[in-house]
Amino acid sequence: MSQNTKITPTLKENLLKYDDLIVTKTDLKGNITYCNECFLNISELEEKEVLNQPHSLIRHPDMPKAVFQILWNTLNEGNEFFGIVKNLSTSGNHYWVFANITPSFDESGKTIGYFSARRKANNALVKIMDNLYKKMVQEEKRHNDNNRAIEASTQILNNFIDEQGVSYNEYLISFT
Ligand SMILES: Cc1cc2nc3c(=O)[nH]c(=O)nc-3n(C[C@H](O)[C@H](O)[C@H](O)COP(=O)(O)O)c2cc1C
Repeated sequence: MSQNTKITPTLKENLLKYDDLIVTKTDLKGNITYCNECFLNISELEEKEVLNQPHSLIRHPDMPKAVFQILWNTLNEGNEFFGIVKNLSTSGNHYWVFANITPSFDESGKTIGYFSARRKANNALVKIMDNLYKKMVQEEKRHNDNNRAIEASTQILNNFIDEQGVSYNEYLISFT
């Protein structure tokens, strides 16, 4: 169980400025090896509370499991991930980001970790994804079997993207 299960979410949002850039790096397991000042400020954390901790430290309970499954599948295939993510700060407030996560490679092409850069997410896109994520979380809660829950929730996301007539990445990038 991660530390953030002790935090009670509020309805308050910590707002990012348009030119804010949140950066973190992780090892292959998603443990944080680097973070910038912007990450610490918006998450209301100190560096010593963050380094070597799993990135789920800031996981918000409103985020569907399926999104993180897609994130890890995408990275494991050696591709970059784009996503809208709601994160939790220490006070229980949240902040929405447009995240771009990429694998970092060594000289031989081996993946040695991951790099995440996030900016303020487009407000219209946040509204759409917030609504979609609520349906996905609701679906995940209906299933006792974790794999089945993620499968059904991913189906909701895929159906939505199919309706848009473009790929997932194209859809998200169209709002930037
Ligand atoms: C580089 C990188 C950045 C990540 N950023 C976040 C993030 O901002 N918020 C988040 O909840 N999970 C993030 N994750 C995913 C977490 O590692 C984790 O899969 C997720 O929080 C779900 O955790 P859980 O399965 O323990 O509930 C990131 C992973 C990587 C590799």
